[in-house]
Amino acid sequence: MRTPFIAGNWKMHGTMQSATSLLKALRLYYDTAEAPTCAVFPPFVYLPLCQTLLEGSRIAWGAQNVSNQIDGALTGEISASMLSDLNCRYVIVGHSERRHIFGETSALVALKVQAALHAGLTPVLCVGETEAERDAGKTFDIVQEQLAHVLRLKDNLPALDSMVVAYEPVWAIGTGRVATPEQAETVHAVIRSYCNEFVPHLGDALRIIYGGSVKPQVVTALSAMPNIDGVLVGGASLHADQFIEIGERWNNW
Ligand code: PGA
Repeated sequence: MRTPFIAGNWKMHGTMQSATSLLKALRLYYDTAEAPTCAVFPPFVYLPLCQTLLEGSRIAWGAQNVSNQIDGALTGEISASMLSDLNCRYVIVGHSERRHIFGETSALVALKVQAALHAGLTPVLCVGETEAERDAGKTFDIVQEQLAHVLRLKDNLPALDSMVVAYEPVWAIGTGRVATPEQAETVHAVIRSYCNEFVPHLGDALRIIYGGSVKPQVVTALSAMPNIDGVLVGGASLHADQFIEIGERWNNW
């Protein structure tokens, strides 16, 4: 049974003050409400704030990136064990902004997944095609290529079935152009069967969530799809009321 997962990716937004009030508002709600499992992904520097404000709550937290290396002279990098030190449970890996703006390759992303799993973190592996790739009919090829780099390492990936895959079409991120539930469902189903081909039943176990311009209004329709197990929310996760409403509107959990 896959439990739904609602994730908030804050990207490089916020201040100590805004992060504090957002976390406090979320905690206030989640301490009493019945809602699906959720996690927030603030910038690194606000992770200690999560420890202070969310410890003992039903809200988990994680980072937006991690080094593929265990430790070393790597100025500016943050290792998976450092994230574990801050009680992170999750880490986003291979977000399209990391792939496209910072040039992260699928091979590097796979090593980051490996580093995360070895440190006991749950990676949220982002995959997705650009608009040009979709127009050229290459959506499935692109997503499968991004997954293949990770799945080929399967013999050295502990607890691989704990991984979350986030399907985030690049053309839907921050654009207000949300994929239709049917478009997302089709790709999610392909991801699931592709993972099953590599490791029997892996695809059935993985939570596959959708990301790209998710707002409260689209959530009920997305949650009705059998292969959509949650959402990765960017812009709307910076507003406590919207992020809470997204959780409230998620059906079937
Ligand atoms: P968005 O971002 O909801 O603002 O489109 C989603 C993401 O990039 O994870």
